[in-house]
Amino acid sequence: MDHPTPPSYSEGVQKYIDRANQALAARKRDIARARKFRFDTIAVHGLYTATEAIEKNQGAIIEPVFASSGQAYRDSDEMEAAQSGLIPTWAYIRIHNPTLAYLEDTLALLESYGTDADAECVVYSSGMAAIENLTDTLLVKSGNDPINFVAQCQIYGGTYQQFNVRKMQERGIEVRWILDPNNLDEWRSKIDRHTRFLYGELPSNPGLVFFDLAKPIALAHEHGIPFVADSTIATPALMRPFAYGADIVVHSVTKTMSSSGTGTAGAVIARKPIVTNIPNDRMRADFCTYLREYPHRDQGGCLHPFQALSSMNDLRTLRTRVDVWSQSALKVAHFLKQHAAIIDVNYLGLEDHPLYPVASKYLWLVDAEHDDRYGKKVNRYGHLLSFRVKGGPAAARKVFDRLQLIMRVTDLGRVKSIATIPSISTHLQQGEESRKKAAIPPDLIRLSVGAEHVDDIVADLEQALGAAKGF
Ligand SMILES: Cc1ncc(COP(=O)(O)O)c(C=O)c1O
Repeated sequence: MDHPTPPSYSEGVQKYIDRANQALAARKRDIARARKFRFDTIAVHGLYTATEAIEKNQGAIIEPVFASSGQAYRDSDEMEAAQSGLIPTWAYIRIHNPTLAYLEDTLALLESYGTDADAECVVYSSGMAAIENLTDTLLVKSGNDPINFVAQCQIYGGTYQQFNVRKMQERGIEVRWILDPNNLDEWRSKIDRHTRFLYGELPSNPGLVFFDLAKPIALAHEHGIPFVADSTIATPALMRPFAYGADIVVHSVTKTMSSSGTGTAGAVIARKPIVTNIPNDRMRADFCTYLREYPHRDQGGCLHPFQALSSMNDLRTLRTRVDVWSQSALKVAHFLKQHAAIIDVNYLGLEDHPLYPVASKYLWLVDAEHDDRYGKKVNRYGHLLSFRVKGGPAAARKVFDRLQLIMRVTDLGRVKSIATIPSISTHLQQGEESRKKAAIPPDLIRLSVGAEHVDDIVADLEQALGAAKGF
């Protein structure tokens, strides 16, 4: 068999290629080493080693922030090698930056922890930018055929608007909504040969809808298309969709991962390769590198290195925070459940919740079996819950307005407990009809439980619920 002649480069360029190959081999070894660590160790260190700290960064134990818009090259050979894609480069801050790489390495390792996935990550300026860039990249047209994608309708309001208005109404790309993501026949009935991907968010914000993830993933693969999971609310501390075969995971890193709340960040993490019916070998083989080199670079939703460091600093304690906050959320849910002024509490960790069995199949505190406090697998259900107050929307607003410690904020995953009424905030724009489909009634209060002592969170709710009396 004839082998194509390898391309030849000038001696100067070749020197940089050889040097880069050595660095890439060292990186592979670092990844293999990091994959042997437990989740907490990866969250704390990522791929940043003591050797790198000492040899390159004056011993700094925290990853350096490269606050620079551009990368200087040693000479024209290095510039040519870099710009020709022959050696790794970050070149310009919109394309990449070494500080972002530290965060990306950590996220890829955490999301593939304990799975067979070989994953890459690319970070964005926000969760919405990540969702847009990844979905638009998959929505490639083939000739004049109309294309579509299939998505669960219980998703974050911003994502709903992006799919329904930006893509469908403004650009004519059909989104086919799934009303019951636990109904596999519904997923199946919506797929045809022009479907580009399936999309789910679990647990969903704010309805906490959960489904048997492995099933639509297998269905997607039967049709040669990828499954994309928004795993923002679960975080890899509770669930890693790659373990069930998901191709792409997307996060609003802004939320629980970056709990101190200094800014927004998003991430796409993809298996290598993904399943896709798009005839683009590069995209299939390494979706994230493709994103970074082409669509992301051209669209410019880049993350600032300062925020990357802030997100990394929060990520280091992700597992412990999710564990403690989940336990607090369960206590809060039990308190609300027995309160006379409450008509409904939606928390996946309540045993009588209709989705408790399916959520319990997937939501496990990572490494609990290796933690002396537990020594066995332990379910945890996250920090997000919602509830309805007797007396309808007016009563709900009264209770909400009386909160003193818990702040009224359209956000979640913060170190501080915060609450919102989704129908007048996060899910306002999508309108009443789609809120009904997504099970977001006007009297629903969403609560994101933070790191305060749980007794103080309960006491604040108790005094606020006093206002519900008389409705
Ligand atoms: C589940 C989910 N996905 C995506 C987003 C969008 O993320 P960002 O606010 O970082 O753009 C949010 C925001 O609330 C969310 O809750």
